[in-house]
Amino acid sequence: MTHTHDHQGHHHGHGHGHGTDAGTDEALAEILDLDAEVLRPLQTEMIDHVHTLAAGTPIRRVLDVGSGTGTGTLALLQRFPDAEAIALDSSVEMLRRLEAKAHDLGLAGRVRTVAADLDTTWPSVGTVDLAWASASLHHMADPARVLAAMFTALRPGGLLAVVELDSFPRFLPHDLGIGRPGLEERCQAAVTAANTAAMPMFGADWTPLLRQAGFTVELSRHLTADIPAPIPAAARRYAETILRRTRARLTDHLSPEDLTTLDTLLDNTTPAGIVHRDDLTVHATRFLWVARRP
Ligand SMILES: C[S@@+](CC[C@H](N)C(=O)[O-])C[C@H]1O[C@@H](n2cnc3c(N)ncnc32)[C@H](O)[C@@H]1O
Repeated sequence: MTHTHDHQGHHHGHGHGHGTDAGTDEALAEILDLDAEVLRPLQTEMIDHVHTLAAGTPIRRVLDVGSGTGTGTLALLQRFPDAEAIALDSSVEMLRRLEAKAHDLGLAGRVRTVAADLDTTWPSVGTVDLAWASASLHHMADPARVLAAMFTALRPGGLLAVVELDSFPRFLPHDLGIGRPGLEERCQAAVTAANTAAMPMFGADWTPLLRQAGFTVELSRHLTADIPAPIPAAARRYAETILRRTRARLTDHLSPEDLTTLDTLLDNTTPAGIVHRDDLTVHATRFLWVARRP
């Protein structure tokens, strides 16, 4: 495995939400890893679509843009056994985790990690057969510029898969909330409002931008995953991590009653705490676009 630092370790604060310090990155990395574990069937379904559309063309070089801890990179390497991958991310911490996982899976020899802030630079990646950008494009200051760079990097006939989301997973029964059901809906609405303000492309339709960049959009899908109660331990940890993060973000945006309900849920010393509840479920959604460079 090789790694490159395309920037000189600099981070800049444009407010688009990517990690700017190791602590932030570590917290996000934990969520990404739980996300990968809990929503693996969703990931498999998306990669199956890409595999079908790639049929008949060799996939030897894969580019993962905003790879995070490598959920996409590693799943793609497993699905395309002749491929090598380049994982780009601004976060050294994410790439470190990706490398450790690649090593554990015996895939280290097929991955190159490149630390680069794609808002300021586009590293030289050569020509690729498949580009993948999952939950990363909405973080970019100028997504159209990144799409143009991916278009140029792809060989004619090559594929780009864009995965995006418009909300975080849901876990709670609707009737939760002191005197007022719908706690999770209110949390989601507040988080979405904050995200949309900071990242205007969060939850957007990417078809027009893909077309403007020169791609032919071959597939656009809304995918869902549902895990009924009782949910497995990893899903419970996932729920707790997301709700803890939500609680921290929404202190100034929720009523005192809703904050109290959240605090009770997050207090595992009481029977109402998340680790003891048997009524949690998982409902998650993703949007997938697969586009081709003509
Ligand atoms: C929500 S995570 C998604 C990670 C991964 N693709 C996945 O699906 O699990 C977004 C990733 O994009 C990276 N990112 C955000 N802005 C970036 C930028 N300007 N340049 C490079 N990477 C960036 C973040 O560091 C983070 O790892």
